[in-house]
Amino acid sequence: MAIVSINHLSEHIGQTVTLQGWVYHRTGKGKLNFIQLRDGSGICQCVVFKGNVDEATFDAASKITQESSVIITGTVKADPRAPGVPGGYEIDTSSLQVIQRAADYPISPKEHGAEFLLDNRHLWIRSSKQWAMLRVRATVMRAIRAWLDNAGFVEMSTPILTPSAAEGTSNLFEVDYFDEKAYLAQTGQLYNEANIFSFSKVYCFGPTFRAEKSKTRRHLTEFWMVEPEIAFCNLDQLLEIEEQFIAHIVKSVLTQNANELKVLGRDTAKLEKMIPPFPRISYDDAVIKIKDIQAKLQAGETIINADGQPLQGIDDPALLDITWGMDFGSPHETALTQMYDKPLFVKGFPTAIKAFYMEPYPERPEVCMSADLLAPEGYGEIIGGSQRIYDADVLIKRIHEHQLPIENYDWYIDIRKYGSVPHSGFGLGVERTVAWICGSEHIREAAPFPRMLNRMKP
Ligand code: 4AD
Ligand code: MG
Repeated sequence: MAIVSINHLSEHIGQTVTLQGWVYHRTGKGKLNFIQLRDGSGICQCVVFKGNVDEATFDAASKITQESSVIITGTVKADPRAPGVPGGYEIDTSSLQVIQRAADYPISPKEHGAEFLLDNRHLWIRSSKQWAMLRVRATVMRAIRAWLDNAGFVEMSTPILTPSAAEGTSNLFEVDYFDEKAYLAQTGQLYNEANIFSFSKVYCFGPTFRAEKSKTRRHLTEFWMVEPEIAFCNLDQLLEIEEQFIAHIVKSVLTQNANELKVLGRDTAKLEKMIPPFPRISYDDAVIKIKDIQAKLQAGETIINADGQPLQGIDDPALLDITWGMDFGSPHETALTQMYDKPLFVKGFPTAIKAFYMEPYPERPEVCMSADLLAPEGYGEIIGGSQRIYDADVLIKRIHEHQLPIENYDWYIDIRKYGSVPHSGFGLGVERTVAWICGSEHIREAAPFPRMLNRMKP
C-alpha cells in the first residue's frame, strides 16, 4: 500500500492508501468513528465504519486517544464537506494500527494560559495554529534564500563568537572564551562589510543574540536575521532592494501557504497589497505625524486607521509622547504603521540613537543615512538598514564617540583603507516578519523554541 501524505491526497482519489500520523481529535456516533489524523503535512478525517472493519479495529478506533500514533489504511474519497487541512478528502478506513497509545495529553482544545503553553512548547508545536505558523516560517526562510541567491548574492557564514559589540553594548551576551571574554553575535554585518570587498553582494543568515531585558511582544533574546550587504550601493538603492525582497517573501507565502493562512484566519487581502513601491517618510515627518495623532487623541478625536477602523492599541495618548531625537518605542510604531496599508520606510534617524557605523549626512550630520522598514497593522520594525561610513577617519571618530575599544575594530577600519566604496546593507528579523505575515499577536509563536527574558526551557 502506498504511504501518502495528506497534502497529496487529491492525487489518490479512489485509491487505497496508507497514512502515518497522530490523532488530533476523535468523535464517535453509533457505528461511526471520525478520527482527525494529522501527519505533518495536513489534517484529514478518517471515517471508521463498523461494517468495514473487524471488531478489534472498531474497538481500537472507539478508544483511541488524542496524540496516539497510528497507521491507517483506507480508500480516498473526495467530499467537499470533509473537514481538515486542506480538507475536502476523507479516508474510508479499512485498517488501523496503533503504534503508541497516548495518555492524558495535556493540551486540549480548551483555552490554556500563555505560560502553560510555553512550558509545553515541545507539545504545543503540534497544535494547528503553531504548525501553520512554523510552516510559514519555513517558507519565509526558503524565500529569503531563493530571492538573494537568484539576485547574485553570495551566502557567507559570519561568526557567532565575536570579540566586540556592533549594535550597542547594553544587550551583549558574554561568554568565557578560554582566558578572554567573547560575545554572542548581535549581527554578522561587520564581517559582511569585509566580505563585500571579495564578493560584492553577500548575505549572512543565522541566529543572533541580544540580552533584551524587557518583556515585549517584539523581542526575543535569540532570533534569526538575514543580513544582505552590497558594495557600490546607496541608501535609496538599498530601499528598492528591500521592497522587492519583502514583496517576494509575502508572495511566496501567499502562493505556498494558502492552507496555513486559512488555519491562522489571516486576512490575505491585506497581504495581497504588498506590492512595491512602499511609502517613504523622513524621521522628521514621522515625529510630526506621531505628535499630530497624539494631539487628536488628546482632543478626543477618533482617528481612523488604514483599515477604516478606529486606531487600535493606544490605550493612553501619553504613550505617544515624543520629541525630536527620541527613538521610536512600540506605541509610536503601532500608531504610525496603522495609518498605512503597506510597509513604511522611515528614513534619516538621528545619528545619536543609531549604530556607530551609519553614515551621517554631510550637510546635516545630526541625522544619518538609515532607514527602518515598519510593517503595517501596527507590527512595526521588521528591517533596520543603512548606508555605512566608508571613510576611515570618520569611522574612527564615531568609534571614539561611542566609547568602543578601538583596538577591537582595527580590522574593520582596515577595510576602509583598501578600495573603500559607498556600501549599504540591512537586517531583516525572521520572527517579526513571520508574526506580521501570520497576523500573530506575539513574536514568541514565530520561533519553534523561543528564548526570552525568563524563558530558556524547553
Ligand atoms: O535594527 P537592527 O538592530 O539592525 C542590525 O542588527 C543591523 N546590523 C542590520 C544590518 O544592517 N545588517 O536589527 C535588524 C532587525 C530588526 O529590524 C528586527 O526585525 C530584528 O532584526 N530584531 C529582533 N527581532 C527579535 N527580537 C529582537 N530582540 C530583535 N532585535 C532586532
Ligand atoms: Mg533597528
